[in-house]
Amino acid sequence: MDLPFDGAISAFFENDAPKEVRDAIQRGDKDDILSHNYPYSEEMPKKAYEKELEKLQIELVKMQSWAKETGARIAILFEGRDGAGKGGTIKRFRENINPRGARVVALPTPSDTEATQWYFQRYITHLPAAGEIVFFDRSWYNRGVVEHVFDFCTPDQRQLFFAQVPDFEKLLVADGIHLFKVWLNVGQAEQLRRFLDREKDPLKQWKLSWIDVEGLKRWDTYTKAIPETLTITHTQAAPWTVIRSDDKRRARLAAIRTVLSALDYPRKDKKALGKIDTKICGGPELWD
Ligand code: ADP
Ligand code: MLT
Repeated sequence: MDLPFDGAISAFFENDAPKEVRDAIQRGDKDDILSHNYPYSEEMPKKAYEKELEKLQIELVKMQSWAKETGARIAILFEGRDGAGKGGTIKRFRENINPRGARVVALPTPSDTEATQWYFQRYITHLPAAGEIVFFDRSWYNRGVVEHVFDFCTPDQRQLFFAQVPDFEKLLVADGIHLFKVWLNVGQAEQLRRFLDREKDPLKQWKLSWIDVEGLKRWDTYTKAIPETLTITHTQAAPWTVIRSDDKRRARLAAIRTVLSALDYPRKDKKALGKIDTKICGGPELWD
């Protein structure tokens, strides 16, 4: 098989990664959390995670029937660096609900025509209709971060985006769409560890792109672009939920809890829902 990035991640690990990142990866066991300031030292045990997840997935089923019965529209967008766990979190949301009415939108690079349109235009057709839950795996926030980091947009285009996004989202919310914005925040060592796994695993290699490889070198540029974006776009109508995702299990549970807690569906089992872990899930102040 032809692997376009064969070895590029391990080469970065060997030659370019900051020493503390390399040390953390070399020292860490599979279950160890690598970010030194993460509030837990180990991943949540699998059994406990699966038990919690099952309870939450039952609640998601109830939530979906409520959406279908009442015509509620739900849009949940996921942002975060490559490897933050967006795809994996969306997968757990959708695992046990009816896929009809629970779409994933992961748009490719804008076409030449799309590039000439109003920036939000191509996203609008994907917004939920009655009874639908739409998961955006990346979103219009590309303009705040990845497009900026890679110079795919001009500074003026980014400024215009920042000027328009609060109003754009306010309109969606005012129209009755339940809009959730989830930012998954992964540490540098954990991101690199996940990339190294992807490089090794033929079933995960598809997740790697040249953006990921090149993005490793641009960690600091991302580190500046993300809080800028979060601060400007954390509004009353459409606030951010920031979730530290070094432990992907705790992060997935927190994301599902965030959505379920905010929706008023019948037969909600508050006990099954459990508590949102505020040590890893909160507002932009959790970003670092
Ligand atoms: P993903 O994170 O979805 O696996 P990538 O890491 O390859 O995808 O790319 C990150 C994001 O950058 C994607 O949403 C992709 O559409 C976007 N992107 C890639 N190239 C361009 C480009 N030339 N102009 C605008 N956006 C781009
Ligand atoms: C991520 O954040 O890791 C990306 O969405 C890739 C994935 O999880 O599939």
